[in-house]
Amino acid sequence: MMRATRAAAFGAAAIMLMPAAGHADGKETIEYRQHIMKTLNEQSAALGQILSTTIPGDNTAAHLEAIALAASLALKAFEAKAPGGEAKPEVWSNWADFSKRMNDFSRKTAEMAKISREQGTDAALANVVDALSCKGCHDVYRAEKK
Ligand code: HEC
Repeated sequence: MMRATRAAAFGAAAIMLMPAAGHADGKETIEYRQHIMKTLNEQSAALGQILSTTIPGDNTAAHLEAIALAASLALKAFEAKAPGGEAKPEVWSNWADFSKRMNDFSRKTAEMAKISREQGTDAALANVVDALSCKGCHDVYRAEKK
C-alpha cells in the first residue's frame, strides 16, 4: 500500500516536472547554474573559516574536493547556452577562454585537495588564494547586479 502510494506520488511529481523539463529554457538553466555557483560560495566561505583558524582544518580536503566537483558541474551547466542572469555574453563568445578558466579552477582545487590529504592542511592552504580564482573570472564574465 505504502509502495503504491509512493509510486503514485512519484508519478504525479514526474508528470508535474515534465513540462518544465520539456523546455528547460533560459530561466531554469540560469537558475540551475546559479545554484551551483552558490555551492562554490558556501564551500569557499567554509574554507575561509578554516583559513582564519576559527574552525579546525579536519575537513580542508573535503571542502576542496567539493569545490573542484562544483566547478566541473558549473562548466557543464554553462555549456547550455542560456544568456542572462549575471552572465555576460562573452561566456559563450569566448567559450575557449571561459571553459579553460573553469577547467583550470577545477583542476587546481582538486590538486590542492590531494596535497591536503598527502601533506596536510597547511601545505594545501599556502596556495589557496591563488587557486580560488573567483574574482579573476567574475571581473571578465560576470555582471554583478547590485
Ligand atoms: C570561470 C569563471 C568563474 C569562476 C572561476 C567562478 N565564477 Fe562565480 N560566476 C561566474 C559567472 C559567469 C556567474 C554568473 C552566472 C549567472 O548569473 O548566470 C557567476 C556567479 C556567481 C555567483 C552568483 C550566483 C547567483 O545566485 O546568482 C556566486 C555567489 C559566485 N559566482 C561565486 C563564486 C565563487 C565563490 C567562486 C570561486 C570559489 C567562483 N564563483 C568562481 C563565473 C565564474
